[in-house]
Amino acid sequence: MAEIKKIGTIKVIICDDSKNAAKHGAEIFAEVINKKPDVVLGLATGSTPVELYKELIRMNKEGALSFKRVKSFNLDEYLGLTGDHPQSYRYFMNKNLFDHIDIEKSNTLVPDGTSKKPEVSCKQYEESIKKANGVDLQLLGIGSNGHIAFNEPGSPLTSRTRVVDLKENTINDNARFFSNKSEVPKKAVTMGIGTILEAKKIVLIATGANKKNAVSKSLNGKPDTDIPASFLQNHPDCTFIVDKEASSQL
Ligand code: PGA
Repeated sequence: MAEIKKIGTIKVIICDDSKNAAKHGAEIFAEVINKKPDVVLGLATGSTPVELYKELIRMNKEGALSFKRVKSFNLDEYLGLTGDHPQSYRYFMNKNLFDHIDIEKSNTLVPDGTSKKPEVSCKQYEESIKKANGVDLQLLGIGSNGHIAFNEPGSPLTSRTRVVDLKENTINDNARFFSNKSEVPKKAVTMGIGTILEAKKIVLIATGANKKNAVSKSLNGKPDTDIPASFLQNHPDCTFIVDKEASSQL
């Protein structure tokens, strides 16, 4: 069961719980992939998309969905972590999705966290997205501070893929994945807000009470750098999928 409403330009799907939110998200992904088998996906990491990825894996295993011709670009990566580091986002993607579906690994791109020349590799990442004719469907999570990817509060609307400093509350939020808070990298490479807004379709998933402030400010406030997700109001095809807890202030 889900309630659907429109807040400004954004379609909001309110699901009973996080499991249903993941199911709704996976259905949108499956529909888009089935319609365009060589689709370009923008993918996200974090706790929120894990259930959605499980659904996609299930559909793939059941033969209802193929990723053979799909290409993907991930939003971000910690600076300094190699792809085989258990907390790197490359490792996360392999473990939570790519290792279990029929996607060609060479078609899965994640920003390079270990480049000796990050500015050059950020530019190359943007060029690779352009060469693929842009992202068709972008998945997003949202930080408790309103960040999208690692575009922290203060990130400009026009920002592109670049190296950023992580805010203290993001480091605190992500410390749960590391054995010690001091191990959380302080910097990351992230697609910019300008990069994200060029995706043809965007789906943001937010679940849990710790996202309710960020969700309501993103949808009800004016677009502002203090809440980067509020810039999604500028996108013509953006859907928020939220559970009851994350929507409690709408
Ligand atoms: P989470 O992260 O899914 O782990 O809450 C979301 C984000 O920071 O974008």
